[in-house]
Amino acid sequence: MGRRLQGLDLCSLLFLGLVLNSLVLFCNGGKTSRYVRRLEATVDMPLDSDVFCVPSGYNAPQQVHITQGDVEGKAVIVSWVTQEAKGSNTVLYWKENSSKKLKAHGKSTTYKFYNYTSGHIHHCTIRNLEYDSKYYYVVGVGQTERKFWFFTPPQVGPDVPYTFGLIGDLGQSFDSNITLTHYENNPIKGQTVLFVGDLSYADQYPNHDNNRWDSWGRFVERSTAYQPWIWTMGNHELDFAPKIGETKPFKPFKHRYRTPYRSSGSTEPFWYSIKRGPAYIIVLASYSAYGKYTPQYTWLEEEFPKVNRTETPWLIVLMHSPWYNSYDYHYMEGETMRVMYEPWFVKNKVDVVFAGHVHAYERSERVSNIAYNVVNGICSPVKDQSAPVYITIGDGGNLEGLATKMTEPQPKYSAYREASFGHAIFSIRNRTHAYYGWHRNQDGYAVKGDTMWFYNRFWRPTDESTSSDS
Ligand SMILES: *[C@@H]1O[C@H](CO)[C@@H](O)[C@H](O)[C@H]1NC(C)=O
Ligand SMILES: *[C@@H]1O[C@H](CO)[C@@H](O)[C@H](O)[C@H]1NC(C)=O
Ligand SMILES: *[C@@H]1O[C@H](CO)[C@@H](O)[C@H](O)[C@H]1NC(C)=O
Ligand SMILES: *[C@@H]1O[C@H](CO)[C@@H](O)[C@H](O)[C@H]1NC(C)=O
Ligand SMILES: *[C@@H]1O[C@H](CO)[C@@H](O)[C@H](O)[C@H]1NC(C)=O
Ligand SMILES: [Fe+2]
Repeated sequence: MGRRLQGLDLCSLLFLGLVLNSLVLFCNGGKTSRYVRRLEATVDMPLDSDVFCVPSGYNAPQQVHITQGDVEGKAVIVSWVTQEAKGSNTVLYWKENSSKKLKAHGKSTTYKFYNYTSGHIHHCTIRNLEYDSKYYYVVGVGQTERKFWFFTPPQVGPDVPYTFGLIGDLGQSFDSNITLTHYENNPIKGQTVLFVGDLSYADQYPNHDNNRWDSWGRFVERSTAYQPWIWTMGNHELDFAPKIGETKPFKPFKHRYRTPYRSSGSTEPFWYSIKRGPAYIIVLASYSAYGKYTPQYTWLEEEFPKVNRTETPWLIVLMHSPWYNSYDYHYMEGETMRVMYEPWFVKNKVDVVFAGHVHAYERSERVSNIAYNVVNGICSPVKDQSAPVYITIGDGGNLEGLATKMTEPQPKYSAYREASFGHAIFSIRNRTHAYYGWHRNQDGYAVKGDTMWFYNRFWRPTDESTSSDS
């Protein structure tokens, strides 16, 4: 608090002239938002809520979700659950206005968790899709057929505009529903969600009540069935519960959600990469081994040289546990991974890193801290135009509530922080420019709480920190 008040004194004159949504307190490195959210308990929606409604009809497919199914964006993995019986594994699909209907066949699986038995979880990959096209698809049979659609991305290339949504730590509270609604109603339309981990929070229920995994799948279907969500693993996906005999980490997540990890040479679904339009997206696993010689380390080391910025100018990394976080919550949890990997991120000029975990919002300056003191933890990051901007977007609205306590004074690396629920949009315009906006749930759909023009680190590595108008 001290730093913030001090900042206010120094800037109070300047401040008078600024409108509320463009507050800039450049004193002392960063800004702690003056927006104070009314604190209320964050409560999960009861199981009989409208958003959890089971589709009608015998064995109707539910929890329908899609994700990218290959490296280039020409395949889609369609997943759904049938509760009463195995039912059909087939996805019927066709390109808009095409009379040629195609079929793809998937597989189904079930799992047990303590005394819970899952429904039949289906996964079906449809391949060889054409770029930049609308496809319809149908799952289920007879009376309980359900029809959805999605758009394939443009062909991988440097100057194709593409817009990503950013959501993290969503859960299934009333606030989660507001976050999703705001994302859907944002006038800048997200085409794919980059989800930074912690999906259902089922593990907060007695015996990790896996019915809450099902309810979450039904809740998000209104978005996940129509656009791919790119999954990152969070700690709430671990479901490690030895007291009730559940000793295989990630069991529910692994059965329910697929990632195209094999296509990028990964050996586990938790870390992988995809290209989508102008972006190369690397997903890292905060809760899998990442030290030297581990599979993830070896994979990532070989991954960076594959990134061709002429083909995919934008290099984006997703992870759950943030490296630069000035909240009291989860403070320094990301340090060991940062110490291992940060030099690679700087060398390879990663544009932006999105993380979750902390239930609040924060954006960093471009900083690096190669010379970290492991003995005393003293951290004095330096401005570095080859470094990514780090964004914490764990503010989806789950039942654990907001992280409100921040470290004071606000560290210099922290450009903006605010304890509010929300989502963000990363809108790539061409190889040099991307527009970024964070939206807090308390505002109207079009209002931005924090914005920034990103200049690509490879094509336009100029300092954009003074241009951030948040
Ligand atoms: C499909 O048909 C509709 C109606 O005729 C038309 O508006 C639309 O542009 C067509 N789409 C494509 C991709 O041809
Ligand atoms: C599982 O166990 C819990 C308590 O141990 C109980 O409340 C619940 O009804 C059980 N569920 C099933 C499907 O048996
Ligand atoms: C969730 O949000 C949707 C869309 O705004 C709304 O129709 C629905 O009633 C909400 N449900 C709950 C339980 O808040
Ligand atoms: C990078 O991509 C461009 C455009 O697709 C291509 O012309 C070039 O050969 C690629 N470079 C390498 C090293 O593969
Ligand atoms: C890239 O997009 C930005 C923002 O829309 C625009 O100002 C700039 O002129 C564009 N560059 C090119 C080469 O089109
Ligand atoms: Fe988390």
